[in-house]
Amino acid sequence: MDVTKNLERIKADFEAELASCRSEKEIEAVKVKFAGRKGELTEILRSLSGLSAEQKKEAGKYANMLKLDISAKLDEAGKKVRNEARVDEIIDITLPGITRPAGTMHPLTKVLDKINNIFVSMGFSIAEGPEIETEFYNFEALNIPLDHPSRDAFDTFYIDRAHLLRSHTSNVQIHIMQNSPPPIQAIMPGRVYRPDAVDASHSFMFHQVEGLMVDTDITFADLKGVLSMFIRMMFGDKAKMRLRPHFFPFTEPSAEVDISCIICGGTGCRVCSGSGWLEILGAGMVDPKVFQAVGYDPEKYKGFAFGMGAERIAMLLYGIEDIRLFYENDVRFLKQFK
Ligand code: DAH
Repeated sequence: MDVTKNLERIKADFEAELASCRSEKEIEAVKVKFAGRKGELTEILRSLSGLSAEQKKEAGKYANMLKLDISAKLDEAGKKVRNEARVDEIIDITLPGITRPAGTMHPLTKVLDKINNIFVSMGFSIAEGPEIETEFYNFEALNIPLDHPSRDAFDTFYIDRAHLLRSHTSNVQIHIMQNSPPPIQAIMPGRVYRPDAVDASHSFMFHQVEGLMVDTDITFADLKGVLSMFIRMMFGDKAKMRLRPHFFPFTEPSAEVDISCIICGGTGCRVCSGSGWLEILGAGMVDPKVFQAVGYDPEKYKGFAFGMGAERIAMLLYGIEDIRLFYENDVRFLKQFK
């Protein structure tokens, strides 16, 4: 018996049969037939004992190699059919594709974009400044002296003796004026921080948009003109503006600016507490002391400044009754602002 010939035939048969296998079951049958305990290969290996030493050596070598080869090919074929089965299971290529739900713009981002765009259309540029500040920028340069009761109005998180989280965006006015000479026409949006107890209308962090315009001939009429244009573009043609005298350390004179209630149109409702008016920002003519602090000549330059809270405006525009909704990232809330 030519053992080697026999082994070659087994190899060819094995490969042909394995190639036509389409399932694990079929592979298993081939395994039993060729490599099983009663398989053809085992039989041949057993019969080797009857051969001469020379034949045994050659045939044994070949048979062992074939055994390894068969077992590797069986493994490989098994893996392949298992993978194919999995792909068939997972991918039904006749199903329609899954469209990912599109996100929506955060209502605050929308409102901030709108505010920014309105002022950019009036020739303002956009500037940003640091949220971690020194007392100089948050207070002193803005004419809010140490030990002055007006500091209480801007209650502040201190980080250490020298640093604090800015309590308003007015700090950026100082940076801009220190870094560039007049004329200035800029708005400064950003986050501000105050240690307020969190409730429906207070948050320890919120957003403001600061405004500043400085030149040799700026008057209170310019402030009124810019603000009334902003209010019309932000809240619509029907919105009326009202200025009430107020005090801010960094402006003189100062005013609080109201709009006619956008909910009731001015007749009085719950949102405007029956007054018909809603306060939306603070403003005034830049105090000469602020110009002095940044090295501008107060005799030569005049300017106006204003500051508004973005959350408050977004709440009024969208009828949002709880400020906490802005920060909770609840998709049920967010998806309403398509
Ligand atoms: N910084 C003020 C605040 O946080 C808002 C403000 C009022 C800013 C009047 C100004 C201004 O620039 O002129 O309440």
